[in-house]
Amino acid sequence: MAEATEAPILSLQGLGMTFRARGEGRRAQTLRAVDGVDLDVGRGRVVGLVGESGCGKSTLARTIVRLETPTDGRVLYEGTDVHALAGRDLAGYRREVQLVFQDPYAALPPRMRCGEAIGEPLRIHRRGDTAGRRRRTAELLDLVGLPRVMGDRYPHQLSGGQRQRINIARALALEPKLLVLDEPVSALDVSIQGQVLNLLGALRRDLGLTYLFISHDLRVVRYLCDEVAVMYLGRLVEFGPTEEVFARPNHPYTLALIRSIPDHEREGLGGRVVLRGEVPNPIDRPPGCPFHTRCPMARDVCAREVPPLRPVGAGNHRAACHFAEEVSDAAMVAGRNRAAGLP
Ligand SMILES: Nc1ncnc2c1ncn2[C@@H]1O[C@H](COP(=O)(O)OP(=O)(O)OP(=O)(O)O)[C@@H](O)[C@H]1O
Ligand code: SF4
Ligand SMILES: [Mg+2]
Repeated sequence: MAEATEAPILSLQGLGMTFRARGEGRRAQTLRAVDGVDLDVGRGRVVGLVGESGCGKSTLARTIVRLETPTDGRVLYEGTDVHALAGRDLAGYRREVQLVFQDPYAALPPRMRCGEAIGEPLRIHRRGDTAGRRRRTAELLDLVGLPRVMGDRYPHQLSGGQRQRINIARALALEPKLLVLDEPVSALDVSIQGQVLNLLGALRRDLGLTYLFISHDLRVVRYLCDEVAVMYLGRLVEFGPTEEVFARPNHPYTLALIRSIPDHEREGLGGRVVLRGEVPNPIDRPPGCPFHTRCPMARDVCAREVPPLRPVGAGNHRAACHFAEEVSDAAMVAGRNRAAGLP
């Protein structure tokens, strides 16, 4: 597994996305979906991006693949601003960076046989002749573990897991370097999720791919990712090596997410908790720390001052909490107490 010592393949710098939205009384208002995100994805790494529904994960993904133009900051791929690309450079970027969506059914053209759907990017990018594209499609079906006859079927004739394999094959057709996977297993049954995650793990190893892997499920992220980035209300609130973040979370939101995982699937860090309260409306964001309206550790300063994402703990572990150091201490005490049978 490659270490992230070289320049990152993908670098988000102060990335922001503000939408115009209709608020109460249909007044035009602004909705800050992504807010000042700095994030590096090292070559050959798998970086997980987690957070509750509506926190801005898909918007961030869409800016990376140029389905949205960010209102602030930059997306750098191999050091180049992707929103300034044009012509051949843009075509190259579109080959090298592919998005895999959550809903494998919606992502496939319904009236196209799956084999044709896999080969479509090759046709669009004028790769090979008809026979060559057919051979490549067969190879791609092998790669994702599907029998070649599946290429003759239509998407509605396949199961959800098979459809997602077709989507992955389609995303791999042009030999990309980076896959942005937006909740790729969320729509699948738990048993099928494991198979698709194993496939993604094997493909990453065999093809030397880099993933930005988006999920609301920390268990999935822990299984696959080298690093994890936690998002809340458009902001990055914690980032670090996966095992470090799970063992010593430094943000109360991350701790709450970890403690919402069923007991038998995690060790220590206290009893199970369910986060109370709704995520605030991104049109009407709270001042100060975005998490202060739900945070069990909030103090006066939290409603006034935005905590910066700053180094905490070991390595490149960072957290955006005024009291980050106290969070990991509190988590350790809760975990030890629980192990000792104390409340
Ligand atoms: N085109 C748009 N116009 C206005 N608001 C938008 C637009 N796209 C997204 N939003 C808003 O931006 C916020 C972030 O949405 P986004 O889809 O990125 O969240 P998410 O983290 O992917 O959620 P989920 O886990 O449910 O997929 C939400 O409040 C959403 O309503
Ligand atoms: S800064 Fe304050 S409100 Fe925000 S997470 Fe830390 S303790 Fe909670
Ligand atoms: Mg989403």
